[in-house]
Amino acid sequence: MNLGQLLHGKRDPRAPGAIQHARAYELLSVTAFAGRRRHTFGRLVGLAGVAPGDRVLDVGAGPGYLTALAAEAASPDGSAVGVDPSEPMVGEARRLRGSANCSFEVGRAEALDAPDGTFDVVVSSLAVHHIPEDVRGAAFGEMFRVLRPGGRILLADFRPPRGRLTRHLVGVTAGAGMRDNPVERIAPMLADAGFATVSESRVGAFLHCVRAVKP
Ligand SMILES: C[S@@+](CC[C@H](N)C(=O)[O-])C[C@H]1O[C@@H](n2cnc3c(N)ncnc32)[C@H](O)[C@@H]1O
Repeated sequence: MNLGQLLHGKRDPRAPGAIQHARAYELLSVTAFAGRRRHTFGRLVGLAGVAPGDRVLDVGAGPGYLTALAAEAASPDGSAVGVDPSEPMVGEARRLRGSANCSFEVGRAEALDAPDGTFDVVVSSLAVHHIPEDVRGAAFGEMFRVLRPGGRILLADFRPPRGRLTRHLVGVTAGAGMRDNPVERIAPMLADAGFATVSESRVGAFLHCVRAVKP
């Protein structure tokens, strides 16, 4: 059993990519970013262009680190909501980072519980590869639906290393889903959902970022 399988815990058939071991994931996240978590996630908030007053949705929010930084950037009048299918994860996010303008809800990317045009910005980090492939297109469609026209999206997902040894290590520790993560498909899939791609970039050693707008 690899680390990825351990973190997932008991599979939820409605959300097979959900991570149930929330505290262990939070610890892993602190460790993996090696003191650079605030810097890295801060860059994502900057790339997404979150501004005071924005209503932000974080999809696959996990323990809510990015959600909280987005809420900070949207203050004082804006807010951020993190959505995740894992109840333990939502509980941990509320405990660690819930505040007046930073909240968390149980939900799945492919069936978002928000009216059309609710948000100014959608963000997501390290979560796209957790959304089952057969509903990933639907998930991007949902992100499009809940954004207002002119709204922005920033998706950051794990970019597999190119070297043979490092790829092998990622496969052994985290699993094939991360080792073979097809991040190059994100931009075309966003275009299929109706988005206009603005840019693709790298943040840090292992994040592939796609920025797009809803026309
Ligand atoms: C690797 S964690 C990333 C958490 C956080 N965004 C971060 O950057 O630390 C991936 C998250 O996606 C969530 N997830 C799994 N399936 C999902 C789905 N269908 N819709 C939304 N989130 C999902 C998992 O429960 C998990 O919390």
